[in-house]
Amino acid sequence: MTQPFPKVIAASQAASMRMADRDTPFIMNDWYVAAFGNEVHDRLLARTLLGQRVVLYRASNQEVIALDDRCPHRSMPLSAGTLDNDTLVCAYHGFRFNTDGNCIEVPSQATCPANIGVKRYRTLERGPVVWIWMGEPDQADMSQLPAQDWLEDGDWETSQGLLHLKGSYVRLHENLLDLTHLSFLHAKSFGTPDYAKAAFKSEISEGHFALLRNVVPTTLPPVWAVPTGLTGQGQAARIVRSEFRSVGMHEVSVSFYDCHLPEEDRTVFRIRTAHMPTPETLHSTHYFLVHGRDFAQHDPHTTQFMHEQLFKAFQEDVEGLALQEQALAATAPQDLYEFSVATDGPSVAMRRYLLGRQQKEASDKSHPQDAVSGQADGPPLTR
Ligand code: FES
Ligand SMILES: [Fe+2]
Repeated sequence: MTQPFPKVIAASQAASMRMADRDTPFIMNDWYVAAFGNEVHDRLLARTLLGQRVVLYRASNQEVIALDDRCPHRSMPLSAGTLDNDTLVCAYHGFRFNTDGNCIEVPSQATCPANIGVKRYRTLERGPVVWIWMGEPDQADMSQLPAQDWLEDGDWETSQGLLHLKGSYVRLHENLLDLTHLSFLHAKSFGTPDYAKAAFKSEISEGHFALLRNVVPTTLPPVWAVPTGLTGQGQAARIVRSEFRSVGMHEVSVSFYDCHLPEEDRTVFRIRTAHMPTPETLHSTHYFLVHGRDFAQHDPHTTQFMHEQLFKAFQEDVEGLALQEQALAATAPQDLYEFSVATDGPSVAMRRYLLGRQQKEASDKSHPQDAVSGQADGPPLTR
């Protein structure tokens, strides 16, 4: 194969320009996962989120506090300081900040200057995760928080993990809407050869993108076959729905059953995975994962087995996407072209949506008088 004709390359580059990619500025006005709740204690946790250094801690009323991690006096990271009765004391000259980020004490003088402090971000703890709103505070919109009922439902046995991806969150969302890679990138874990060839359906509408695939009959890989007992060759149905729920969350739901049994005799085993990418920088991502199942709920061996197998597979994504990032970073823009195929439809639409969101934010910022208020439809936030 020779290089495509210049006209073909130009067309593919024009198509790519209409999609978000690794250099698209962040979408600020949305909820992202800042941390798992069990990572945040009464000590300081430093984390870069959407390119911003943030310090997190849990106050004595259990609220999660998130502040800019830079002292406004001489820029010492506040995360290097200490917590004292819910207040944060800077390690350099001892300025003290309360949970609102206001400076309440300057040790070298009797009074504290008014109006010095650091930005505080809104947080919401739901189930196992702490969400953060990094955008315009007056646009914090509860209705944008993706529903996550099963994450808070005791009927689902869950395990969780945090991976660090040396790549863009845009390409991670793309990966999650492109399950044809299971047969290849995950050939040694939870992919099977028939997966990429199985018929699929897609759902595409504004802000909603899903890929549905029924792989029937199929042979399950050990991660599913062992805990469900569906170990026979061609015994199982594998019904998959992969859905972009928000810029900060993607959910994959899978049902398994014995496809040789009549419907009324089947036991259906369900698993779900919440994939929650939070950009660290444009080219790196905190990849929060919670995996759940509605069977063998109180069996720690099954939990451990599935967790190990699954996170091995998710690590394959992380490694694959890091390689992709290296190739993208090493290619000059004028030399970069990528071609999409039919199964890329949902991810192309999703990336166009992300770019549209970012462009709208930028335009609203430069023309605030034209911006339509994104104020919450839902109940007001409490802090
Ligand atoms: S740098 Fe924080 S008190 Fe001086
Ligand atoms: Fe994957």
